[in-house]
Amino acid sequence: MKPQTIESSQETVSPPSRRRVNRVIEAMPPSGIRKFFDLVMGRPNVVSLGVGEPDFVTPWHICDAGIHSLEMGKTSYSSNQGITELREEIAAYLKRVHQAEYNPADQIIVTVGGSEALDLAFRAVLEPGDQALVVDPSFVSYAPLAAMAGGEPVRVATTQEEGFTPRIEDLERATTERTRAIIVNYPNNPTGATITQEKLEAIAQFTLDHDLILISDEMYHPLTYEGTSPTFAALPELRDHLILVHGFSKAWAMTGWRMGFTAGPVDIINGMLKIHQYCMMCASTPSQFAALEALRHGADEVEKMRREYDARRRFVVHHFNRIGLDCPTPYGAFYAFPSIRSTGLSSEDFAQRLLERENVAVVPGTAFGECGEGHIRCSYATSMADLRKAMQRIESFVQSL
Ligand SMILES: Cc1ncc(COP(=O)(O)O)c(C=O)c1O
Repeated sequence: MKPQTIESSQETVSPPSRRRVNRVIEAMPPSGIRKFFDLVMGRPNVVSLGVGEPDFVTPWHICDAGIHSLEMGKTSYSSNQGITELREEIAAYLKRVHQAEYNPADQIIVTVGGSEALDLAFRAVLEPGDQALVVDPSFVSYAPLAAMAGGEPVRVATTQEEGFTPRIEDLERATTERTRAIIVNYPNNPTGATITQEKLEAIAQFTLDHDLILISDEMYHPLTYEGTSPTFAALPELRDHLILVHGFSKAWAMTGWRMGFTAGPVDIINGMLKIHQYCMMCASTPSQFAALEALRHGADEVEKMRREYDARRRFVVHHFNRIGLDCPTPYGAFYAFPSIRSTGLSSEDFAQRLLERENVAVVPGTAFGECGEGHIRCSYATSMADLRKAMQRIESFVQSL
């Protein structure tokens, strides 16, 4: 028998038309934020209100704790769930701040940023074809993560008039037999909205009525400016249906450390832990020691940064309104979401022309969903000097239209 050549066997195994990338991934558009930032790259003198991360460096004693852990030779894997002291400290924090009791032994996982916790949540809960309700506009990752988990994200529109929180009748209308989960995020990226206790309870009741899992992303919970933001974790009746996602990136200025955590019912956390074990093993060990220090001794710095964000928030909201861009007051996170409807431009056009003419980078509201049309997202996690420059340039851009 004639031996098969490599060429001929390759031809049989891999015909030229063979699909090489998963269809869901291939069809997925790149993040609207990334797309826009490719335009910014390489432009000199750009003032950027685009990036959603603190301009502060991590407080030194937190960095020092990470360094010290390395000096002490803590360079191995930790337990899959995260080091015990950190989980205990997270449980104490959740009890103190979110009025919620979680057992550090089997209800908390330390994750690689809040991002991993979100991924684990969708993957643990959704099966192929299951639907997840995603509020629109929302953080760019939710819909893609739900889709990558095999689910189908279903957008639920919100409006400025409703404070960018979903109406229960809209949630009801979007719910089908296939709906398994809903994800919400207050304080909110991109709108800066917080939620009222009344709306929070209504969403909780909706979740229970339909026997859903509620994923509550409370990454920005420590950053509120006029009273605190109510938390879903404080509702005892919801406990069995709630996956809480939190992390150190924003309030503790630790984006690069990649430190997040999640808390929830034992069965779901167990499922999430299996995925985490296989794909991540554990979060970075030195980062976990830094996070431990952040929780034990970081509150004063968080408060200092919060006050600084508050001063900047007042500044930008005042100036947007003054120049005729109606800006809903953001009560949390570090984003303003002014309306640019009065200019007659679309969000994309506004952002692109502002960048070309005045070298100011903002993110078009549509990067966060269709309901972001008519808005731009401006991060005020930027120095006051840059905010001043940005506001002057935006004013001159608006006047030129
Ligand atoms: C609402 C929200 N959730 C989660 C994340 C993810 O944060 P990280 O993975 O850095 O913890 C972000 C980051 O921008 C965010 O804005």
